[in-house]
Amino acid sequence: MPTQTPDDRLQAACDIAREAGALALEFFRNRDSLVIERKGPQDEVSAADRDVETLIRRRLAEEFPGENVMGEEGGHDDDAAAHAKGAEGLWVVDPIDGTACFLNGIPVWCVSIAWVEGGEVTLGVIYDPNVDELFATRRGGGATVNGAPIRVSDTADLTEGSVGVGYSTRCRPEETLRFLDKLLAAGGMFQRNGSGALMLAYVAAGRYLGYYEPHINSWDCLAGIALVNEAGGWTNDFLAGDGLTKGNPIGAAAPGVTREIKSFAGLG
Ligand code: IPD
Ligand code: CA
Ligand code: CA
Repeated sequence: MPTQTPDDRLQAACDIAREAGALALEFFRNRDSLVIERKGPQDEVSAADRDVETLIRRRLAEEFPGENVMGEEGGHDDDAAAHAKGAEGLWVVDPIDGTACFLNGIPVWCVSIAWVEGGEVTLGVIYDPNVDELFATRRGGGATVNGAPIRVSDTADLTEGSVGVGYSTRCRPEETLRFLDKLLAAGGMFQRNGSGALMLAYVAAGRYLGYYEPHINSWDCLAGIALVNEAGGWTNDFLAGDGLTKGNPIGAAAPGVTREIKSFAGLG
C-alpha cells in the first residue's frame, strides 16, 4: 500500500535511512576489504556507496511505488528536474555523504534522503549511524533529532560559534578563501568535517551558526536545507536554475548572523 500522510511518509523515510545507515556501518567496520575506485581528484567510491544506494532505492520502491528517485551513484532520468518542479515529486538520495571520511576510517559521514515537490524540499532525513543521530523534518512539522525538537542558534554574534565551510575540487580556491578571509576578520571561526549534509544538520541543531560552500550537489544538501528551514534558519534559493541536476552554491545561517554570512558568501 502506498504510504499516504506526510507523517507516514516521514516515518518511512526515517526507517529507510536507519536501515541504510546500518548497512553502511557494517561496510565501515569492514572497510579493509573494500575495493576503492577513484572518480577523480579527492573523489573516491566503493561498493559501500553503491550497495547502500541500491538498498535505499529498493526500499523507496516498496514504500512509495512508482515514485521517482535520483541518487548520487545511480543518477537520474531526463525528467528529474520536471518531476521535482511538478506535483509528481522526486526523492533525492546520497547513500553516504562524507565518503572521504568513510574510506579513511573517520566516523563522520551520514545517509541523506530528501523529497522535493513543486520545486521545494518538503521532507528531509539525515542519519548518522556513528552516533545514532537521526535528524528529520517535514514541511510544517518542525525539525527533530532522535525525536527531540531542534532550533538554529539564537545568537546574533558571529564570535560565539563556528560556521561550517565546505570545499571540493569542483571549485577554485579563491571563492572559499574570500569567504574565510571575511569570516575570520569578523572574529568568526570555521570547521570542515567532510560531510556537507551533516554540517547542515548541525546548523539546524544550533551546533554551527551557518554553512557555506561555493558549489554543492543537490543530494549533498537538500535534506539539510529542509532541516535548516524548519528549524528557523535561512538558506539561499539552492534549486534556482539547474541546481537540482548541476548543483549551486549553498548558504545557510541562523537569523542573527544571516546578514553577515550572506554578505561574506556574496549570496543575495
Ligand atoms: C561531499 C561532501 C563534502 C562536500 C562535497 C561533497 P561525498 O560529498 O558532502 O563535505 O564538501 O561538496 O561532494 O562525496 O562525500 O558524498
Ligand atoms: Ca555527498
Ligand atoms: Ca556520496
